[in-house]
Amino acid sequence: MARPLEILGRDGALAKSGPTRPTRRCQGTSWDGNQNFCMRLSRKIEKLTTGEAWSSAVDAYYRLSRSLTVPQLLKGLDQSEFERLRVKYGVEGETKAWQKYVDEKRWLRLAIEQAQELHLDRRRPSRILDLGSGAGYFLYVCKRLGHDGFGLDLDWPALYFETFKLLGLRRVIWHIDPYVPLPAFPARFDLVTAFAICFNAHETDHVWGPKEWQFFLDNLEKNVLKPGGEVFLSLNPEPYGHYTPELRDFFLQRGARIDRQKIWLKFQGFEF
Ligand SMILES: C[S@@+](CC[C@H](N)C(=O)[O-])C[C@H]1O[C@@H](n2cnc3c(N)ncnc32)[C@H](O)[C@@H]1O
Repeated sequence: MARPLEILGRDGALAKSGPTRPTRRCQGTSWDGNQNFCMRLSRKIEKLTTGEAWSSAVDAYYRLSRSLTVPQLLKGLDQSEFERLRVKYGVEGETKAWQKYVDEKRWLRLAIEQAQELHLDRRRPSRILDLGSGAGYFLYVCKRLGHDGFGLDLDWPALYFETFKLLGLRRVIWHIDPYVPLPAFPARFDLVTAFAICFNAHETDHVWGPKEWQFFLDNLEKNVLKPGGEVFLSLNPEPYGHYTPELRDFFLQRGARIDRQKIWLKFQGFEF
């Protein structure tokens, strides 16, 4: 899909492409206003020609017809429990470590977006395994959309035990290690997800490369996923970015679709 060029604006900031000086159609008393209009129009035309407009319309349809909001999600949950967890585990101003997950509204909002991006609002009821499932907000959204979700994580911190109980979710305690198969599950999954991945030895000097990922994906395909199952991975950044060139090539060669830190894989049996 053609993307608009990126150019340096007059103030040196990165801006989306557009004419660098007024074209005839864009000339007028308010250059900035006209330029914005022209840019919006050209983006709309681009969307029409690439089919993006259709897919945006379909997204909008599902978001309206199957709308899911944080207040809806919270209805039916004991909200005083979240308050109790905040008092027990919360750390004022914490935005990085696990204590950040006491802010249920923020994380449910993100989980709704994640589920929508994976089209879980329009997919037949599926069995979903979330690796490094954390506090379980994504799996809770999956559950509310009619899917059967299952988590996998370490036995720490205790907050995750409590949120899983509160959200009525199930998980297995397991430490993912390189070249070690995942545990046997009673049934196979349609989709395996992993958001903000740390199990790949993130931020260490032995972060996973192609060989570790190859073992991991082969194991998912052979033992964990149904035929035609799918995988969604979202990597955390390392000091050099999300991928070494070799790792990026590896995922592409396995047929992955990559968009920044996000990787989609579909195994045999489905068309991309
Ligand atoms: C950054 S958090 C992401 C949590 C959740 N996926 C999210 O996006 O909010 C990383 C999660 O991976 C888990 N984790 C880290 N290393 C792991 C390992 N080797 N095996 C299994 N889980 C691991 C952590 O306990 C934590 O829940």
